[in-house]
Amino acid sequence: MCGIVGYAGGRPAVPILLRALKDLEYRGYDSAGIAVLDGDRLAITKKQGKIANLEAALGPAPAGTVGIGHTRWATHGRPSDRNAHPHSSCDGRVVVIHNGIVENYAALRDELQARGHTFHSETDTETVAHLLEAEMAAGADLFEALARTARRLEGSQALVAMSLDEPGTLVAARLGNAGGIVIGFGDGETVVASDLAAVLPLTQEVAFLADGQVARVTPAGAEAKTVTGEPVALQRKRIPIDPVTALKGQYPHFMLKEIHEQPEAIADTIWSLATLDPPALYFDDLGPAADRLADIERVVLIGMGTSLHAAMVGQRYIEAFAGIPADADNASEFRYRDPVLDDRTLVISVSQSGETVDVLEAMAVARQAGALQVTVCNTAGAQTTRVADGTVYTRAGLERGVASTKCFTTAVVALYLLALRIAQAKGRLSDRELALHLHDLAQLPRAVSEVLRQRDLVRKRAVSLAAAQHVLFLGRGLAFPVAMEGALKLKEVSYIHAEGYAAGEMKHGPIALIEPSFPTVAIATRHALRTKMISNIEQIQARGGPVTGVVTEGDAELTALCDAVLTVPAVSSWLEPVAAVIPLQLLAYDVAVHRGCDVDQPRNLAKTVTVE
Ligand code: AGP
Repeated sequence: MCGIVGYAGGRPAVPILLRALKDLEYRGYDSAGIAVLDGDRLAITKKQGKIANLEAALGPAPAGTVGIGHTRWATHGRPSDRNAHPHSSCDGRVVVIHNGIVENYAALRDELQARGHTFHSETDTETVAHLLEAEMAAGADLFEALARTARRLEGSQALVAMSLDEPGTLVAARLGNAGGIVIGFGDGETVVASDLAAVLPLTQEVAFLADGQVARVTPAGAEAKTVTGEPVALQRKRIPIDPVTALKGQYPHFMLKEIHEQPEAIADTIWSLATLDPPALYFDDLGPAADRLADIERVVLIGMGTSLHAAMVGQRYIEAFAGIPADADNASEFRYRDPVLDDRTLVISVSQSGETVDVLEAMAVARQAGALQVTVCNTAGAQTTRVADGTVYTRAGLERGVASTKCFTTAVVALYLLALRIAQAKGRLSDRELALHLHDLAQLPRAVSEVLRQRDLVRKRAVSLAAAQHVLFLGRGLAFPVAMEGALKLKEVSYIHAEGYAAGEMKHGPIALIEPSFPTVAIATRHALRTKMISNIEQIQARGGPVTGVVTEGDAELTALCDAVLTVPAVSSWLEPVAAVIPLQLLAYDVAVHRGCDVDQPRNLAKTVTVE
């Protein structure tokens, strides 16, 4: 979704904004633009396509030290130079960048046009520039103009604006859940952005705006208030960053780098929540949720995409370990039905970014129903962590590849430990059982490293799958969500149509598709209801369909049966989803590279989805 950045300081703004926009590229975008103070005017440059197009159009950049930049992911108006942000007021003295949707933009545009304003784009965003202009003409300063404008906008928005009338100032607003606004405090310079990736290279001292807040940002710092005028004390925090995770290093793509970071990310996640000696669980960020887990009678896990698949694995852990009913649901469906929840229900939201609008809206529904909430999140200070009663952080580090990899496996591991924590709170986990689980977890990073060593084998498999038009992924039990995730990865990065199915469902329809040109990937590891999977594989082969099996090392029977196999080392049955997903991630990556696809920025996709 759209990326937002603003800079107010003492250095030329353009290079800083360009670099920040590159740091935001992973969000997905179709055009980019910059506005910078240039003497007595605001110089705007914007271009459809990659940031390289914007750089080429910029020519000798103005030396101004205050400016804003934007990467756009189109919602209203097709991708074009004209519809790219920033958008300006009639007199060109106010410019604005935006993430979200102004739901009442048509009514506002009609009203503004009737008052003499002229529009230059097809976007909803432009209404904001004209509203700001009108409020300033009525006597408000830029800060107050944004507060007043915010009160007129329907829908969720993140906004940053600047005006020639207040040359050293930027203003920002967060309204609802259209992505965050984070302010970074440097030495004589302040940066404001949609996410941490654009801020951390400049400073680690940050504060987040909450829903309904606006901020005035200057080189000296920032102040905030609510849109209705109550003062807000910005809570500053220091965000640790490992600079290595932010660079591709030896890898050609972030996706490949992040796949290879999994052994470490998994280990970091495990040992931030548990110790082996003595065997113990530590959930430092559970807050008030910690004391209420014993009373929980039911769990609902919500998430989208890859995070939903992790939630589906977590559901199975909670039922097995804690012995209470658990369901996993797509957050966007959950919020629009009438979910039955009460204060004995625990809602666990899973979100890498912590800013996915579908998840946040579902959390609002859960809050209203009085449910206890815990979020499993990879982003410090993100919105889900502020809404939930408690947080379980995954320690995957910054994930830039649009296709999520290390955030899936670390979320599964975090959910495993959370399920143990709930079981413990309910008196269903002995110390000995905990020790055994932790012992199994301790083996996992090494097992994942072993799978990664099979890269060459996977690459060969990828070459034969790259010509397919459709691929079916099958799994049962814990391997069903893995099949869903394998299919999602393949379609996201290679644009091959892929479906993940519960293997038992295969005979009820999908089997009609099977023919020699329709490959199947079957997850048939030691514990994934292996004998049932063998029957499914035979049924497919009987119809001429080629099968690639993901099997446990040393499984001679399946190796002989399948047309090709990718192997994973033997791990505890509960941890097979983590081991088995790794070859599928590599497979998707290698197929995509073989087909010449843009692996880190697949078409039409955004890293953080902040519109419904
Ligand atoms: C994963 O590869 C996807 N790009 C996508 O499905 C993602 O998992 C989903 O949008 C949820 O994001 P979140 O974890 O940040 O909430």
